[in-house]
Amino acid sequence: MHDDRRNPPAILFLCLGNICRSPLAEGAARAAFSAAEIDATLDSAGTGDWHIGHPPDARAQAEARRRGVDISNLRARQLAADDFRRFDLILAADAANLSDARAIRPADATATLALMLDLVPGRAGESVADPYYGDDGGFAATWDDVSAVASALVASASSG
Ligand code: 4NP
Repeated sequence: MHDDRRNPPAILFLCLGNICRSPLAEGAARAAFSAAEIDATLDSAGTGDWHIGHPPDARAQAEARRRGVDISNLRARQLAADDFRRFDLILAADAANLSDARAIRPADATATLALMLDLVPGRAGESVADPYYGDDGGFAATWDDVSAVASALVASASSG
């Protein structure tokens, strides 16, 4: 079967602010792909513009650090129409991110757009809850969700 996905695959993680969920997803995926010695182009973005140029939220950085991953070098950026041509897969944290992304999807988009948890068996259609307004426990739950997504991506990349 013809398969026009890039090798290595190019995957963009998307949330609202690009300072909590999607940088944690990018960090978890970087760690998982690197541990599996599989090449991938990994990035993250937000649908909103409030935090452009900012590092991840301090609570997200601390949670990643607790799990052995340094995300301090990431900087927030906003989703752009060109991302739909540069990436194979755009994975949104929640339903609002998905519908905001659909609204700027260009006609010649090549990227598949889905929810992050669509990749995790038994969790299709679920959102990764926004931890921004909650306590630190929310960030631990976010990490657990995005690591399940990262594992599913690696499993699918290694099965070719
Ligand atoms: P994120 O979390 O979408 O997971 O990065 C949020 C970050 C910032 C805001 C909301 C959610 N905010 O309203 O500024």
